[in-house]
Amino acid sequence: MDIKNLIDKAIEAKQYSYSPYSKFRVGAALLTLEDEIITGSNIENASYGLTICAERVAIFKAYSEGKRKFKAIAISSDDANFCSPCGACRQIIWELCGDIDVILIDGNKNTKTFKASEFLPFPFGDENLKGVKK
Ligand code: THU
Repeated sequence: MDIKNLIDKAIEAKQYSYSPYSKFRVGAALLTLEDEIITGSNIENASYGLTICAERVAIFKAYSEGKRKFKAIAISSDDANFCSPCGACRQIIWELCGDIDVILIDGNKNTKTFKASEFLPFPFGDENLKGVKK
């Protein structure tokens, strides 16, 4: 799979952002192990806290369609700086996608690639729940 294609899809996904409050459009494109791409954009709400980031929209879309294995996620905004995933998205990427590549794309189409684990050192995960007596 061509990573350039994944990057283009993340940029295209911004067009469906519903962000009337922040005016900060974000697009995400998630690459499955089978080289399928699932996109997402940020969806805001007048009750601000209900907003869902582009990354989580893409990941939840994929999970809800039965996809479970991923290679990479690309994240794009119009900003001159890279749009780094928020804390909630870092936790979701880590648990639901594992240590995938996270490709950030700035408003000038520059890219920078990280591993998901770089964004979430010493994570809390399912392993932590195993020692709990029920
Ligand atoms: N946002 C994302 O969609 N992804 C990120 O990684 C950071 C922030 C959205 C949430 C909100 O709609 C807007 O960007 C401004 O915070």
